[in-house]
Amino acid sequence: MKSFQELSRRELTQIRPYEPGKPIEEVKKEYGLTDIVKLASNENPLGPSPKAASAISKALSELHLYPDGGSVDLKNALAERFNVEPNWITVGNGSDEIIKRLAETFLTPADSIVVAKPTFSEYKFAAQLMGAEIVEIPCQKGRLDLPLMAAAVSENTKLVFVCNPNNPTGTIVSKAEVERFLSEVPQDVLVVFDEAYAEYVDSEDYLSAVNYLKEYPNVVVLRTFSKIYGLASLRIGYALADPEVISLVEKAREPFNVNRLAQIGALAALADTEHVERSRRVNQEGKKQLAAGFAKLGWRPLDSQTNFMLVETFQDCRRLFQDLLKKGIIIRPADIFGLPTSIRVTVGTEEQNAAFLAAVQEIMAAKEGEAV
Ligand SMILES: Cc1ncc(COP(=O)(O)O)c(C=O)c1O
Repeated sequence: MKSFQELSRRELTQIRPYEPGKPIEEVKKEYGLTDIVKLASNENPLGPSPKAASAISKALSELHLYPDGGSVDLKNALAERFNVEPNWITVGNGSDEIIKRLAETFLTPADSIVVAKPTFSEYKFAAQLMGAEIVEIPCQKGRLDLPLMAAAVSENTKLVFVCNPNNPTGTIVSKAEVERFLSEVPQDVLVVFDEAYAEYVDSEDYLSAVNYLKEYPNVVVLRTFSKIYGLASLRIGYALADPEVISLVEKAREPFNVNRLAQIGALAALADTEHVERSRRVNQEGKKQLAAGFAKLGWRPLDSQTNFMLVETFQDCRRLFQDLLKKGIIIRPADIFGLPTSIRVTVGTEEQNAAFLAAVQEIMAAKEGEAV
């Protein structure tokens, strides 16, 4: 008799499970702590838009109803925001789900994708699930190497993922780099710009790929309500692309993929520009606060255009991660991205950042004590 492992699709053996940020409840239990500062998953430390929370509360009596499978109200609002028709948009159970749908729509084991290394892991996961080949192009000083990524496109390439800004490095590729890249990549290769952190960017060199949708029908733009809009637990994201592409990825969509509360919350959050502005301001201040702390420690952060920072600590990141956990601070050790002496820290509130920096100081002082 065959084992279930033997019966499962061979592609699955390649997949390593996603390593999420350590959950708050787990750390509380493991270390007997009550106060936890989680700076591991790039969530909005200010929480959701109060307007979204209030709209959701009002909808609780309607939990017995199926959601609108087409997310029509939200699509209309997004269409207005981006100055496109609603048929240029698909809404997903997080942008993760759209990444998977893109793979399901376009990839077979004969195809390949081009991605940066390191970058967001879901692109690789989705391609592995479909048995497609993954071509990884190393970042240069934490930045995507678009000329090499363009050169890596072959006849088998169906999708190229450009995470801009990039997770986990926080860096951007400039308008000029993107324009050159788009002119080099063949028009029958889809270029997926993942702009999960676009709302945080303040560099003048950056231009959202939304601006190229009309000129380049092979451009897909991913956005999410999980980051600046503070709705990560609702799971809702969206993609913008040419209607021909959208109609194809819509075919692979579950009929009720996005729940009702998520649609209602997202619609309210989209209109709450005040919360978005405040989140942006707090993030900018927080980045300065962390950068000053890192400078004192002699640590080297990359220039971040997001709500997290990747920082070179010149020490074993796993040990630092464990030491911080004991003090109730959760960050991401960057060995999971192939960077064993770096950590990725989400920018928190002023208090959270201060708690993190104080905990690091204590750990460093204790280490120095050990060394004597
Ligand atoms: C670059 C990037 N894309 C997509 C996502 C996933 O977003 P969502 O919560 O909408 O699935 C994340 C989440 O961390 C991300 O960092």
